[in-house]
Amino acid sequence: MPDQTGRTIIVTGGGSGIGRAAAAALSAKGARVVLAVRDQDKGRAAAATMDGEVDVRPLDLASLASIRRFAAGIDGSFSVLINNAGTMTDELRRTADGFELQFGTNHLGHFALTNLLLNRITERVVTVSSTAHRSARIDFDDPQWERRKYRPFGAYGQSKLANLLFSFELQRRLIAAGSPVIAASAHPGWAATGFRITSGSRLLDALAAACTPALAHGPEGGSLPTLLAAVGDVPGGSFIGPSRFGGIRGPAAVTEPSAEAKNPDLARRLWELSERLTGTRFPLPAMTDQTAGGTGA
Ligand SMILES: NC(=O)c1ccc[n+]([C@@H]2O[C@H](COP(=O)([O-])OP(=O)(O)OC[C@H]3O[C@@H](n4cnc5c(N)ncnc54)[C@H](OP(=O)(O)O)[C@@H]3O)[C@@H](O)[C@H]2O)c1
Repeated sequence: MPDQTGRTIIVTGGGSGIGRAAAAALSAKGARVVLAVRDQDKGRAAAATMDGEVDVRPLDLASLASIRRFAAGIDGSFSVLINNAGTMTDELRRTADGFELQFGTNHLGHFALTNLLLNRITERVVTVSSTAHRSARIDFDDPQWERRKYRPFGAYGQSKLANLLFSFELQRRLIAAGSPVIAASAHPGWAATGFRITSGSRLLDALAAACTPALAHGPEGGSLPTLLAAVGDVPGGSFIGPSRFGGIRGPAAVTEPSAEAKNPDLARRLWELSERLTGTRFPLPAMTDQTAGGTGA
């Protein structure tokens, strides 16, 4: 990684797992890092292990009020927002605003946070997804699991597909606004972190836990796609993941998302739904003929 002196980078969930590993690598290269965490003690303990300037700020992505407070507390502009935090749960739970917890935290929380901060971001927005997006779909009739039987892994997959649809739509909107900021996304493959797979089947979960030490890489390996997406030489709209063992681990490289994730109609629909639910909007004005350098004729 090249020297990062002069950059300020916000990492959600930077107090543990992949977020912590990414934050540590960035601060070791000179970036000023802001750990956006719900557990301040954990955040401070993580910060104490890192080099350089590391700030710890409270952020609970399962609360729109907390997200608004966090955004209001960020002074001036900064370089990169890394939407890393994520949750996986085995039972139907809801955020403070009544959203299904995984959709609410993983997607809606980051959607709101990005819209509230976008005016002050100068370089990139990176969103961490998962290979679980591949088997997922967005159920627009019941996105919050109010009428369907709850499927934990289905809800996780929906939130991770939403992460990608959001990132690609954000890139389209940034281009349309003539912004120099780019949106990129990443997935860590399989990383041994605080994350426990909750597929809905106890047998599968136990099997996954037993295989993790042998098959998964550590948080540092899992952070490589995020780091490439955040500060590497990649174009806007890139999706980065591990390049070996079917995308489970190995060096980070540009990879292909599912066809569903690239569907612009789906992305627009999700964006509109997310705006209604969070009360936040894409904040940049559309480019006019004049700002685009056209004649307007
Ligand atoms: N590990 C994998 O194999 C894997 C695979 C695919 C995708 N991912 C994705 O990678 C990202 C990082 O996960 P990880 O593996 O590093 O897991 P992790 O060790 O459990 O880290 C998740 C982080 O998210 C934070 N978080 C959860 N809910 C939050 C909330 N409401 N507000 C603020 N922060 C919250 C956690 O905070 P606390 O420390 O307070 O719990 C933690 O710092 C997630 O987006 C996950 O979906 C991981």
